[in-house]
Amino acid sequence: MKEESIEFQTPDAVFYNPKMNLCRSLSSLAVGALEDEIDVVDAFCATGIRGIRYARENANVKSLTFLDIEEDAIMVARKNAMQNKLTAEFKTGSISRLAFDLMADFVEIDPFGTPSPYITDSLRFFNPKKTAYLSVTATDVAVLCGGKTAPCLKNYHSKPLNNEFTHETGLRIMIKKIAENAAEFNFGITPLVSFSDKHYLKTVIKLKRGADNAFRSMKSLGYVSYDPKTGNRNYGRFPETGDQKKETAMEYAGPLWLGEIHDKEFLEKMKKLNNERNYSEKDEINHMISLFENEVAMPPYYYNIHNLCRIFKTGHVPKMKKLLERLVESGYRAERTHFSRISFKSDAPFDKIREVFQ
Ligand SMILES: C[S@@+](CC[C@H](N)C(=O)[O-])C[C@H]1O[C@@H](n2cnc3c(N)ncnc32)[C@H](O)[C@@H]1O
Repeated sequence: MKEESIEFQTPDAVFYNPKMNLCRSLSSLAVGALEDEIDVVDAFCATGIRGIRYARENANVKSLTFLDIEEDAIMVARKNAMQNKLTAEFKTGSISRLAFDLMADFVEIDPFGTPSPYITDSLRFFNPKKTAYLSVTATDVAVLCGGKTAPCLKNYHSKPLNNEFTHETGLRIMIKKIAENAAEFNFGITPLVSFSDKHYLKTVIKLKRGADNAFRSMKSLGYVSYDPKTGNRNYGRFPETGDQKKETAMEYAGPLWLGEIHDKEFLEKMKKLNNERNYSEKDEINHMISLFENEVAMPPYYYNIHNLCRIFKTGHVPKMKKLLERLVESGYRAERTHFSRISFKSDAPFDKIREVFQ
């Protein structure tokens, strides 16, 4: 098997999904964009392809440790690392046990389904670091981004919302869980890059130790509210529910992360690196990073044009370009978003959004 420039083995007994190439490329760019030299733990390594790519593609990976609960996976990761001339440590066992014995600056969490039970485990690797990095993938999208309230409450302690901006809500619920767990370890969080793609959600987060940093993160948690009848939406420290007996009833999701989901300067570094590399999905990655840049300093939701046309009964679907132009001409920001091709983000008030659809 070949992924980008890495040749490696993928026997049937060990998990490998070629469709995650884009995720691994973006994550490897994030590793390369970090200014620090880092000791990396690929904690759910399977074939080892993530860790191998991080180390082969970036000069700042000082050391690499592979963990997997399956002996077969560790055997394959070892062979693949050797084939790629990498020196590394290999540990068979659950992250929940091994976390007490190992130290790292960067931990990769890529389990089957929810990362929730492993976030606390991953934070144990950072004792006694002042700065650290956590890279998390979630494939329980049906829970985070669907109407499955009970499992979301159980795994993330938050209420989801199955509406037109559900993918951003799901991502922000996952980041909230990381912020909460990190705060218990006296870490504040700064998401460097976060995205939703295909069947998964991904974030790479910088952690900074300090009670004030942790407290600041906790103050970035809140709710988004949404009225399915009017399309109106809002966000704040507390859910806005409107008058449940009248026509203004609002649904809500949260608590979730209301802070930034990307760091602008970090995105610029990732883009620069991408332009220096020859990834097979180079153009798509550049396009995605440009969309991430659009999302900085915007409200924590987006507007789905088709859904709003249905609610506003416009009878036709206006061109995205025209809508964005009208909002910008009115003095607001209006940008496309990576979350959905038929949606945009804007800092305009809802009345103005409705006006430009007319
Ligand atoms: C989705 S795969 C990882 C894919 C891999 N990171 C990649 O990019 O190809 C999940 C892996 O986590 C391993 N795993 C499951 N539970 C684990 C645990 N508690 N601790 C460590 N590894 C675990 C599984 O054996 C499996 O190999």
